[in-house]
Amino acid sequence: MEDLIKKAMAAREMAYAPYSGFLVGAALECADGTVFTGCNIENASFSPTNCAERTAFFKAVSEGKREFVRIAIVGGRREEMVAPAPCGVCLQVMAEFCKANEFQIIMAKDTQDYTEAYLKELLPNNFSLK
Ligand code: THU
Repeated sequence: MEDLIKKAMAAREMAYAPYSGFLVGAALECADGTVFTGCNIENASFSPTNCAERTAFFKAVSEGKREFVRIAIVGGRREEMVAPAPCGVCLQVMAEFCKANEFQIIMAKDTQDYTEAYLKELLPNNFSLK
């Protein structure tokens, strides 16, 4: 757990967030043990902004991964870390690939201060075409 949170913290250093100043990092653990990281990437036009969680998912899926175990998320402004909960769009992306009662979301302030939830708890239902 500590290791995954540390990877999310390192990814947060890459965040491009000149508009909100809110820097987010994520580390996504795949079923085969590999980890993909992501940061938020903002845009002057705002809506193209990509959250850290989706960056990590899209990197992993584009590299052929489809099975995931858990994701650690850290975030906050330069001076104040919080334990960010994923936004609804990111939860929907997670629901596309993960079993809601198995996939774990770790929302961390630091390596010793975090809360865990299953995807099912944060998104009890999701849109599906399946
Ligand atoms: N953000 C994330 O990266 N992940 C979340 O779960 C929520 C929000 C980003 C988007 C935007 O760049 C900044 O945080 C402020 O909303």
